[in-house]
Amino acid sequence: MIKCFAYENFKSFEKAELDIEALTTLIGTNSSGKSNAIEGISILAKTVTGLELSMILDGTKSTGAVVRGGSSGCARFKTNAFKLGCLTELDSENDLLYEIKIGVKERAAVEEEGI
Ligand SMILES: Nc1ncnc2c1ncn2[C@@H]1O[C@H](COP(=O)(O)OP(=O)(O)OP(=O)(O)O)[C@@H](O)[C@H]1O
Ligand SMILES: [Mg+2]
Repeated sequence: MIKCFAYENFKSFEKAELDIEALTTLIGTNSSGKSNAIEGISILAKTVTGLELSMILDGTKSTGAVVRGGSSGCARFKTNAFKLGCLTELDSENDLLYEIKIGVKERAAVEEEGI
């Protein structure tokens, strides 16, 4: 079961964690980051499918950006890389943390990835 998602320099989040329960609801005022949090999860979900990063973030010329603002809109203002993570319960004693750092300077590229 997924326990938590983590965000670093992703859109409006400098550093944030979203704890996941069996049922998790996001409640907040406009522009508080609900959709940003969901977009981060959606990016993570697509990266593990092996789809190309540029496709995930920017789409194609005909489809346009898949993520709002495309790859350059993912990094927090004045930064050029962001990190997303997911903490999963592996078994009763161990958790598994997956993290990916994506740079968006010239084109989207994986800078770090680890488990
Ligand atoms: N790259 C970025 N750097 C900093 N802030 C950003 C970035 N991209 C988006 N934001 C900020 O994120 C906010 C929008 O967040 P989001 O769309 O997640 O809000 P929301 O909670 O879904 O709002 P609503 O209830 O209106 O749907 C805006 O204030 C916007 O300026
Ligand atoms: Mg929203």
